[in-house]
Amino acid sequence: MNAAVLSEEPAAAAQAVEARFEPMTSERLDAVLAIEQAAYSHPWTRGNFADTLAAGHQAQCLLAGDELLGYFVAMPGFQEVHLLNITVAPAFQRQGWALVMLDALALWSRRQGAEWLWLEVRVSNARAQQIYLARGFARVGQRKGYYPLRPGEREDAVVMSLRLENT
Ligand SMILES: CC(C)(COP(=O)(O)OP(=O)(O)OC[C@H]1O[C@@H](n2cnc3c(N)ncnc32)[C@H](O)[C@@H]1OP(=O)(O)O)[C@@H](O)C(=O)NCCC(=O)NCCS
Repeated sequence: MNAAVLSEEPAAAAQAVEARFEPMTSERLDAVLAIEQAAYSHPWTRGNFADTLAAGHQAQCLLAGDELLGYFVAMPGFQEVHLLNITVAPAFQRQGWALVMLDALALWSRRQGAEWLWLEVRVSNARAQQIYLARGFARVGQRKGYYPLRPGEREDAVVMSLRLENT
């Protein structure tokens, strides 16, 4: 699947660089974990990714040649899809790749018959929230102490949703 054809308004980066999606497999987890550990203060573990693959979640890698640009993991539910992880490698951030992945996920979710996309994001992660708002998500709630922060401290999550019929 060529990423450039997934959005009606593909980001400039996606037009300039040929990228494609391939399923996340256990063979790719070394590369995924390298990005995960560089991108987050509290990264998913190899076990978290192994569990998500075993559960059959929608887990896709975005590649340009052999280079892993980013990945997302989403859990389908009844008429909804829950985005569990979306990450762009630090060296490839701010080039439009998160938008490419969100568009691909919305397209796939609609094809599954889903009406809603859901996600949680740290209250401190203003950049990610801005990107979700730009893609049509709305802030619909807050979960107290959802994320670990420092020893003995937790951080709230903002819950965001996108109605797929309107996108
Ligand atoms: C949040 C995250 C996924 C965003 O990924 P990204 O690829 O950098 O995001 P995008 O470039 O698609 O975001 C759109 C931004 O790029 C800009 N953009 C879009 N196409 C562009 C292009 N061709 N060239 C330059 N900028 C572009 C947009 O205007 C927008 O502007 P902003 O940088 O002011 O926000 C990434 O920063 C990341 O992995 N962070 C760490 C993990 C994380 O926080 N994940 C989310 C958890 S909920």
